[in-house]
Amino acid sequence: DWTPGNFIQETVAQIQERVGPEGHVICGLSGGVDSAVAATLVHRAIGDRLTCVFVDHGLLRQGEAEQVVETFQRHQGMRLVAVDAKEEFLSDLAGVTDPEEKRKRIGARFIRVFEAEAARLAAQWGTDTPAFLAQGTLYPDVIESASNDDTRNARTIKTHHNVGGLPADMTFQLIEPLRMLFKDEVRAVGEVLGLPEEIVWRHPFPGPGLAIRILGEVTWERLETLRQADAIFLEELRRAGLYRQTSQVFAVLLPVRSVGVMGDGRTYAHVVALRAVTTDDFMTADWARLPYELLARVSNRIVNEVDGVNRVVYDISSKPPATIEWE
Ligand code: XMP
Repeated sequence: DWTPGNFIQETVAQIQERVGPEGHVICGLSGGVDSAVAATLVHRAIGDRLTCVFVDHGLLRQGEAEQVVETFQRHQGMRLVAVDAKEEFLSDLAGVTDPEEKRKRIGARFIRVFEAEAARLAAQWGTDTPAFLAQGTLYPDVIESASNDDTRNARTIKTHHNVGGLPADMTFQLIEPLRMLFKDEVRAVGEVLGLPEEIVWRHPFPGPGLAIRILGEVTWERLETLRQADAIFLEELRRAGLYRQTSQVFAVLLPVRSVGVMGDGRTYAHVVALRAVTTDDFMTADWARLPYELLARVSNRIVNEVDGVNRVVYDISSKPPATIEWE
């Protein structure tokens, strides 16, 4: 019988056998549940011979980078290298407005940063030591890459660069402890492993992060604006007890300004769009019927608390024809 407990026990034993008494494993952490569960399983199996690498591309939500370090380094006691690559990513994105170009540049930079870190670690371990790369690949990802006419993924609309992906000229052997699991099973395993609820139940977050939620150019200032608005939206969503009932919820910063009035003065400031969807598989999605009171609170707080924003709109498009993300 499949139970999270049995799965953990068997998987830990398999990892120990595969890696051997000398082998080292590297695992990229993204903050999402899949890589978190994969890393925790490997950590159970081989302890400090696992090194997690977290690339901070500066495109994360408010407090997320800190939370990853806090959870894995402090609470779980894992070896964790946090690479601060904000400047590199931001300079790659300077002047770029095309969504696919943003994805390409972020993906390319991510691989370079991750590879450099992996090479540095592999050099420390020496060439005689077996080196492995652990990934949180799930069953649907395995199916998807095996056959592109799988009904669940008949068409790829965007190039989904999976940040956390493989280094190009890989000398590592792959460990994919979740390759037979679906998302709900991964969550069940994460709960039994004792991972915090905010990680186990976290909504998916795209690899290119907030860069594809800032329409137009990505600058540090615009990232900060979006982070504040997004944090307010999520805080109020959680406070209303609706996080678990929604699949993905976020704010988007639009590249237009509109006229408003504040006190005695006229304003000419940015528009934030709120997006909330429910879905089972992310291939189709419906916009969430969030309560008006919640939307009103979020809107009031954003225009009052976030500089440079004077208007908030709610996205009532389903997928298809819209996608979940705006880029
Ligand atoms: P769309 O916008 O295509 O999104 O309806 C479907 C799901 O995929 C996520 N997404 C991405 N994930 N890299 C990722 O790792 C990407 O480039 C990317 N684009 C979209 C999106 O957040 C949603 O969960």
